[in-house]
Amino acid sequence: MARVHIAAALGTATLALLIIFQLLSQYGWREVDFLGLRYYHQSTTSPSNQWPFNPASYEPASSEDGAQYLLGVGKADITGPVVEINMMGYADPKQMGSGLRQRLYSRAFIVGDVDKPEDRFVYLVLDTQSGDTAVRYGILEGLAELGPDYRMYGQKTVAVTGTHSHSGPGAWLNYLLPQITSKGFDKQSYQAIVDGAVLSIKRAHESLQPGHLSVGHIDIEDANVNRSPYAYLANPKEERARYKSEVDKTLTMLMFQGAEDGKSLGALTWFPVHGTSMLGNNTLISGDNKGVAAYLLEQAVRGSEGARDDFVAGFSQANVGDTSPNVLGAHCEDGSGEECNFEDSTCGGTSQPCHGRGPMFRVNDQGSSSCFEIGNRQFVGAKTLYDGMIEGAVGTSIRGPVVRSLHAFQDFSIYTFQHPNGSKVSTCPAALGYSFAAGTTDGPGAFDFKQNNTGSPNANPVWAVVRGFLREPSEEQKVCHDSKPILLDVGEIENPYLWTPNIVDVQLLRVGQLVIIVSPGEATTMAGRRWREAVHSFAEGISLTDDEEPIVVLGGPANSYTHYIATEEEYGIQRYEGASTLYGPHTLNAHISLTTSYLRYLHVDSLDSPPRGPEPPIYINESLSFITGVAFDRAPFFKNFGEVLSDTVSFYHPGQTAKATFIGANPRNDLRLEDTYASVEKLDENRKWIRVRDDDDWSLIFKWKRTNSVLATSEVEISWEIEDEAERGRYRIRYFGASKTPISGEIVQFETSSGIFDIK
Ligand SMILES: *[C@@H]1O[C@H](CO)[C@@H](O)[C@H](O)[C@H]1NC(C)=O
Ligand SMILES: *[C@@H]1O[C@H](CO)[C@@H](O)[C@H](O)[C@H]1NC(C)=O
Ligand SMILES: *[C@@H]1O[C@H](CO)[C@@H](O)[C@H](O)[C@H]1NC(C)=O
Ligand SMILES: *[C@@H]1O[C@H](CO)[C@@H](O)[C@H](O)[C@H]1NC(C)=O
Repeated sequence: MARVHIAAALGTATLALLIIFQLLSQYGWREVDFLGLRYYHQSTTSPSNQWPFNPASYEPASSEDGAQYLLGVGKADITGPVVEINMMGYADPKQMGSGLRQRLYSRAFIVGDVDKPEDRFVYLVLDTQSGDTAVRYGILEGLAELGPDYRMYGQKTVAVTGTHSHSGPGAWLNYLLPQITSKGFDKQSYQAIVDGAVLSIKRAHESLQPGHLSVGHIDIEDANVNRSPYAYLANPKEERARYKSEVDKTLTMLMFQGAEDGKSLGALTWFPVHGTSMLGNNTLISGDNKGVAAYLLEQAVRGSEGARDDFVAGFSQANVGDTSPNVLGAHCEDGSGEECNFEDSTCGGTSQPCHGRGPMFRVNDQGSSSCFEIGNRQFVGAKTLYDGMIEGAVGTSIRGPVVRSLHAFQDFSIYTFQHPNGSKVSTCPAALGYSFAAGTTDGPGAFDFKQNNTGSPNANPVWAVVRGFLREPSEEQKVCHDSKPILLDVGEIENPYLWTPNIVDVQLLRVGQLVIIVSPGEATTMAGRRWREAVHSFAEGISLTDDEEPIVVLGGPANSYTHYIATEEEYGIQRYEGASTLYGPHTLNAHISLTTSYLRYLHVDSLDSPPRGPEPPIYINESLSFITGVAFDRAPFFKNFGEVLSDTVSFYHPGQTAKATFIGANPRNDLRLEDTYASVEKLDENRKWIRVRDDDDWSLIFKWKRTNSVLATSEVEISWEIEDEAERGRYRIRYFGASKTPISGEIVQFETSSGIFDIK
């Protein structure tokens, strides 16, 4: 049986020792994890003397492997409209979806108390740019509709995080600002995410079983860099000297294992790297590098001896703020190839030509090769760690049968608290600084809407409606935002509705000694470190995790999207991350102040919750939208939907691309959730066609193109980049479409295939 506790590897004799240590710990001996070994030393004061709570209710862990929990994992498709919708992330109105590289998923991880059904939380990892207020609202509504069995999944217990992929469809966000570039809100895009997220939770719930949790760490050196080192350098030298890198290199894994057979159910990881491997000129939908990593780990682990067949891999984002997957640095694309200006990432005074280089930047494929490579690097690290944890060679068991969570809303436009130096400080209504418009080296400023240029060819209909509502910030607002020159005073405008959140989610989850900070914004590297450290030391201060050293991770952007959370020093530099730190210089400390003061609610004895706070507005019914639906589809005269326009050739070798084009219809007619638009089938020995690739596979690409908007005709191109390891044999490509009939509006399904070809 696969065991993860270090002690198990040392044999059963350790069991007796552990029981002794367990007893010792009750008399004030503390267990310390150091270099994967457990050390025991006696506390200077007996914990029972400093205990703020009643220690009698602490039950010892139920086995030497750590406590048993109720565990469940689930995965569901959230792929929204893959064409004709602006993509979410780069805020470039010109970046419209044109097809699908890889389906998007919601992955749900439930941790519960075996005996107390109310003590349960669910951590969602969505292949989206972020969590969102409206999406979270929809998920909670959807869960409520599932009935009383789902009553424990609510405001307090559900964390909705996004992987920060910049390659998904947009138009699903609650607030106005991100809706501007997408020409408003799109119900179909929104509902695909909400429904899939609910389905993933339902699946995870239905899979609940007793099991064990353990945590492991591994460093991945070559998958991220800091894209704003100039701002990072503003942090105190002594603080920086404590870290070997300008970004966190550690991937943390939470392993879910069934109690009965020890098989892994799933693994949830945290590692900080922007989902910007696919470039701003890519128009194919994918989960970017985290989507690749999850796909690879699921493929590698499913079907292996130590894992369940429905193993789920979640690659969650961490303190992502100033990280980049463009690990070869930012260079000028002005012909010079020089490195961009260090201080402001410009080339000859403008930010547009400056672009970060991914590991495969020489391949001109809109970042696809680099994306796969950065995903693969995360996968390789995660798989190495996974193997070590399954063998029981590395990892720390999660102990203490305590599952807790909290959630509150806080109005950040007026939050006053004590700065670490003792003085009283406040956050301010949201505002974005000038550098926000300049963008980053991952995607140089595409915010053409800001320029107030109605005559531009990209004249934006939403911008035309809302630009009049922008106003000069008040003196008070200017002072509050301190070193930030305000470009968009978004937090003070409620017309036509709020542009960005002022009401912010505060959420913490806890199981045993693991505490998860659920961050609504993109904390920068140092911001995340400070936040985790503060929570760690407060947790120790209140003996939150009993004798176990607290393990603290940070996941996000979650629940809402509050842009960035930079340190006060980085804020002073006002690069993109500082300019996008919405609530002023004290944004990070406000988060730290709230979470540390709420930590006590995670205590085993706490029956209370933090004050609920003001509800955020939900704009799904009143959002602007200039996105038009599908009018209808037509095949060209004397032709039918699905007819082959150009076929595959008779044979290919691995490394080549098999390609066919068909008469198509708009993919928005049917999202084909939990299904596929494209597939590759292989003829098996019984002369039956077996599906071997589908929309989930990185190597299979589905592209849609409108060929005539008056005649409403379109084309679909499906290409398979045949992998080196593809088996020889006989194949065909298939296309599954749905057309919208003129006048009646009826949606008619059709399917078709290419000619047969061999791989030699
Ligand atoms: C896509 O963008 C990258 C980065 O700016 C650039 O190097 C590349 O040439 C662009 N590719 C195409 C096809 O436009
Ligand atoms: C504490 O920090 C705040 C915010 O940076 C600053 O305004 C104030 O002067 C500091 N106070 C002291 C006593 O250092
Ligand atoms: C934006 O354009 C309008 C109309 O052309 C003009 O009245 C307004 O002053 C401009 N605002 C800025 C900030 O340039
Ligand atoms: C949106 O409208 C629907 C239908 O009228 C209603 O059921 C729902 O409660 C509304 N949602 C919000 C957030 O206002």
